[in-house]
Order: sequence, then C-alpha cells, then structure tokens
Amino acid sequence: MHCGAISLEKLARQFGTPLYVYSADQILERLRIFQEAFGDRDTLVCYAVKANSALAILALLAAHGAGFDIVSGGELERVLAAAPDAAARVVFSGVGKTPAEMDFALESGILEFNVESEAELHLLADRARRLKRKARFALRVNPDVFAETHPYISTGLREHKFGIDIRRALAIYKSVAGNRWLEPHGISVHIGSQIRSADPFGAALERVYKLVRQLDRAGIPLQSIDAGGGLGIDYHGGSFDAAAKIHEYAQALDEALAGYAGRLLIEPGRFIVAQAGALVARVLHVKRNGKKTFVITDAAMNDLIRPALYQAHHEIVPVRPRAGKPRVVDVVGPVCESGDFFARDRNLAPVVPGDLIALLDAGAYGMAQSSNYNTRPRPAEVLVEGRKARLIRRRETIADLLAPEILTSEK
Ligand code: LLP
Repeated sequence: MHCGAISLEKLARQFGTPLYVYSADQILERLRIFQEAFGDRDTLVCYAVKANSALAILALLAAHGAGFDIVSGGELERVLAAAPDAAARVVFSGVGKTPAEMDFALESGILEFNVESEAELHLLADRARRLKRKARFALRVNPDVFAETHPYISTGLREHKFGIDIRRALAIYKSVAGNRWLEPHGISVHIGSQIRSADPFGAALERVYKLVRQLDRAGIPLQSIDAGGGLGIDYHGGSFDAAAKIHEYAQALDEALAGYAGRLLIEPGRFIVAQAGALVARVLHVKRNGKKTFVITDAAMNDLIRPALYQAHHEIVPVRPRAGKPRVVDVVGPVCESGDFFARDRNLAPVVPGDLIALLDAGAYGMAQSSNYNTRPRPAEVLVEGRKARLIRRRETIADLLAPEILTSEK
C-alpha cells in the first residue's frame, strides 16, 4: 500500500508507528476543485483549520490561495505562523470568543468575525472601540434547517447552541447600524458536518439570501455570504467521485444564490483533508476472548477518537495483504476503556503480530482531536509531496508530556 509514490511500509520503518500520513497532492486537488466549482462567482475557500491544523498543511493551502476558518486564538496563531500574510483571508467563528482572542484578531486584521450572539456583538464593538480598529462582522444565523448527520455534529437547528435565530437577525443588524466600530460585512451559516446531501445547503442558503435582500432594502448592504462547511465524504470506501460531489454542492449553492452578485465564502474542512490521510498502526497482538477475536494495535482512541466518539466508520486494511480468509474481529487499541475501538465485528483480512494496518480517511479530525490519554505520546505526521515524504511533526516524547507539570511547590 502506498501514499502517492511512497510505500507505507517504508514510512513506518523510517518514522515508527502509529503514524499519520497525508498526501499533499490530494489536499491541493480538493482545494482546487472547490476553488473552480463556482465559475465566475467571486469565491474564497476558507479551509476549516480545526479539521487538521498541521502547520505544513496550512502553509500548503495558503500558498495555493486558501483562506481560513478559525475558532480560537490558537488557530489564528497557527495560521499566522504558517502564512504570515493570510490574516486578510481569515474568518473567525465560534460561540465563545474571549476579549483577548478578539483583540488579537482585530490587531491581525482578519477578514470577518462570525458573531454568534448579541452579547458577543456588543463585546466585539467594545474591543474594537478600545483598539480603535473597526471590526468587520457577519452574524452567524441559524436557518433552522435539518441536515441528516450524527447528532454531535449537527448545528443548524434552533435547539443548538450555534448561531442567532434567523428571524432576529434583521433587527440586530439594524440595531448596530450606526456604530462606528462595527462594519456589517457579511452573513454566515453553518448547518453541521458530514452532510452527504447537497439539498440542506441549498435550503439554508435560500433563507440566508432572502435575509440579505431584506438587509439591502433596509440600507444595510453586505459584501459576502459565508456558507460554512459540512460537505460529507464516503467513509465506507468503494468508488467516490469527489469532483462530482463538489459540483453538486456548488450547484445547490448557486441555485439558491441566483441573482446574488456579492462574494461567496465557504469553509470546507473534512472534504479537503479527510481522504488524503491515513493512520498507520502496527498489530501488537491477536487475542481471543470467548467468541471474539481482538486485533490489538499500537494506535488507540487517543490517536483517533472518531469511532469511540461518533461510532464513526473507518475502513481498515492490512498494508501488505496476506493470503487467507477474512475473519470477523474487533480492532482495538491498548487504552484501558472498552470504548477504545476502531472497529467492531469487522471482516478483516488475516493479520499477525508485527503486521501494519492502515485506518483510512483519517486526515480530518484525527490528529486534530488526539490526546495524551494514558500518557501516550501523540503520533508523528508525515506529508507526502510527489515523490518525497517529509516529517511535519515529530513523535512526542514522554519528556514532552511531563514538561508542563510541577512536582513540588517551591517557596
Ligand atoms: N465551519 C464551522 C463554523 C464549523 O463549525 C465546522 C466544523 C466547519 C466549518 C468545517 O466542517 P467540515 O467541512 O469539516 O464538515 N469532529 C467531528 C466534526 C466536527 C465539525 C465541527 N465543525 C468529526 O470528527 O466528525
């Protein structure tokens, strides 16, 4: 099994396991399809940093014209470290921005704050006044559109913590119309993640565009509509036509925005990086307990929590397939929790201790959601560019993990 031209066995030998491996070519290919899918429409793809925030990946995307959707001051630090001139292409989302984060973003000159409550808008105005820097804002509206996905990652309903009820937005824009520190710049929406159908995106955008027209009539013209992220991939393998999916999505947005001449922002995360990444792990033991067979790997839920957290499916394949019939097994890690599994009752080609397996489609929300639970150092990360592979994050050491701790109180 290979990533681009490079064998995963070779990478595992060189960098050890567990190991995240990403294909730069696939990441850039997905970015390009999004960038070109809207034809002549003025579009900015603001990659959702949370999906995979590796500096090398941010730098790669920035070099090819991407903007960024961030949700913390930390993510802004990352973007600026990777691409110091990208601030003007950054949108800042999130329901709980602190005053310090707002100040940092104002001073950096980001494109837009996606504001999620009236209280946040007032805080933003206050920070902008203190710094004497006008804040460009968009209200993140909640369109009350249902999108089929896991409940933990659905966001577009009134009962969710996200956004502002779309029925209240007009009044809020009007209420701050005269504020010299707030510039009504856009409007934003994000209905959830891993949404497979294009329809809910279109439905949400229709509602948003209607509001934009109302605002226009009220003398509050906006520069941009931010359609958020959320387009889902196929985690079950088989053939997947990514370009067709993106075009279907673009068409749904375009139809909803017929007649709209302003700028379109989109915030895809998963769709750009998920399928470009795999987590490579080594089989430690194959163990039978009663009727069950467990394949125990050196990767665990701390390295990739999606199966444990969302019952998410990731395809698992032996890196060098052996002859023999597949067996029904659970693939698990060494962490002391029954929730530490990658797959349950999965048909897996035969593996023996020492073999490598690859957990596929792990480029998004894999490393980004990893932890040190059980005092496990996090994996190394490798980026494959053409015929070259390079380490973009070294494996953590136990010394890294212990470094911030204080054992004795010194007087
Ligand atoms: N924009 C906003 C405001 C978001 O909250 C998100 C994701 C995105 C864009 C990017 O969504 P994407 O295109 O990646 O679906 N950890 C979960 C996914 C959480 C998504 C959170 N928000 C998972 O592993 O499935």
